[in-house]
Amino acid sequence: MLSSQVYKQRRAKLMKQMKEGACLIFSAPVVKRNNDVEYDYRQDSNFYYLTGFEEPEAALLLLPKAKKDKIILFCRPKDKAQEIWVGHREGVAGAKKNFGADKAHPIATLHKQLSTYLQGSKVLYYSLGSQKYCDALVTRQLNHLRAQVRSGMSYPTEIKDPVGFISEMRLFKSKEEIDALKEATQISSEGHEMAMRMTVPGINEYEIDATLQYCFRSSGSVRLGYPNIVASGVNATTLHYTKNNRKMKSGDLLLIDAGTEADYFTADITRTFPVNGKFTKEQAAIYSIVLKAQKAAIHHVKPGVTFQSVHNVAVRKLSEGLKSLGVLKGTLKQIIEKESYSRFYMHRTSHWLGMDVHDCGAYQINGKSRKLEPGMVLTVEPGLYFRKDEKGYPAKYRGIGIRIEDDILVTRSGNQVLSEAAPKEIKDIEAIVGKGIEL
Ligand code: GLY
Ligand code: MN
Ligand code: MN
Repeated sequence: MLSSQVYKQRRAKLMKQMKEGACLIFSAPVVKRNNDVEYDYRQDSNFYYLTGFEEPEAALLLLPKAKKDKIILFCRPKDKAQEIWVGHREGVAGAKKNFGADKAHPIATLHKQLSTYLQGSKVLYYSLGSQKYCDALVTRQLNHLRAQVRSGMSYPTEIKDPVGFISEMRLFKSKEEIDALKEATQISSEGHEMAMRMTVPGINEYEIDATLQYCFRSSGSVRLGYPNIVASGVNATTLHYTKNNRKMKSGDLLLIDAGTEADYFTADITRTFPVNGKFTKEQAAIYSIVLKAQKAAIHHVKPGVTFQSVHNVAVRKLSEGLKSLGVLKGTLKQIIEKESYSRFYMHRTSHWLGMDVHDCGAYQINGKSRKLEPGMVLTVEPGLYFRKDEKGYPAKYRGIGIRIEDDILVTRSGNQVLSEAAPKEIKDIEAIVGKGIEL
């Protein structure tokens, strides 16, 4: 958890933008996995961003217009039996004392309190549709207020989504948030290097998955930002392959897309390397094209250029490469305009990165690709995938899948590659694959 001042400032900044209304945000739900077992709990990113509160069954009510109590936190009350079985609960007193709430209440009283707190607000900022149970509670209470309108009570007659405001705030990373991202990318880069060092022909993808998890957890990271992709051989041509259960052979490439969290911020890094430590001629040719495209696209990242133009730079370089290999025919202009490269490059080059791996924030403003600004963080992740079900290209490239992905902070003078510690030059990779680690 960051300092309580950080959450306080975020709430204040959000409230400044919603003068006319109240704002209600719920914690993430607990999801049952199977009898008596739940999926690992992770707090909702927006809720955590505004509270630092990690418990389920909680709600944050912001009342910007209130004279005194502007921050109201609803949470589970203390419960000795539950605390013996499951663990510590902040309870109502803890929510007030440790999380900056002006007032805290048991979550079971939310419906009643809501009717009182919402009186006099014209607008309710609430994300309709994200949790059915919450929608039912909110609409029931609004209905209840509506029924009392004859007694002169005013209540919110408009519901607006607060996500736009929060997303825009989260898009620009503060010093503390950049530090968290640096920690996440550092630990994740070390995991990638360890995975390279531990890979030899004959081991299974799940062993490398375990190596990554060992490295991340033993560095103090609480959880992965998304499931590890450990994709060897032809599995690398499935973009989000997560089975991770194939035995690797000499001559295979291994694509690893893995990033872990620090303080709820995640890395998102991909590296591809030969299982036996030496790229074949064909693998090296494709790898070099992807690396060249990635470097050119990263070099392009700076304030003032559009998000779309980063993709355009990567597409141009990949298309040049595919043409030079004889994989695609026609002029470069035709390849780009007809998008014939998309048979081998079927995803975008970038997305925002932060608390969510595909982080929030608008990509377009007034229908135009948005310009990059300092404090934004994006991935640059070109790839080439020669799928077996795709026809009409030289057989020697069949089954090759390569992606290289780094995490880029836009700075005032250009950019900083947060994940640069993960090796990606051919010579650096070949020097360490299968070499083991010093204990
Ligand atoms: N790891 C998912 C992605 O790269 O977008
Ligand atoms: Mn990504
Ligand atoms: Mn990724």
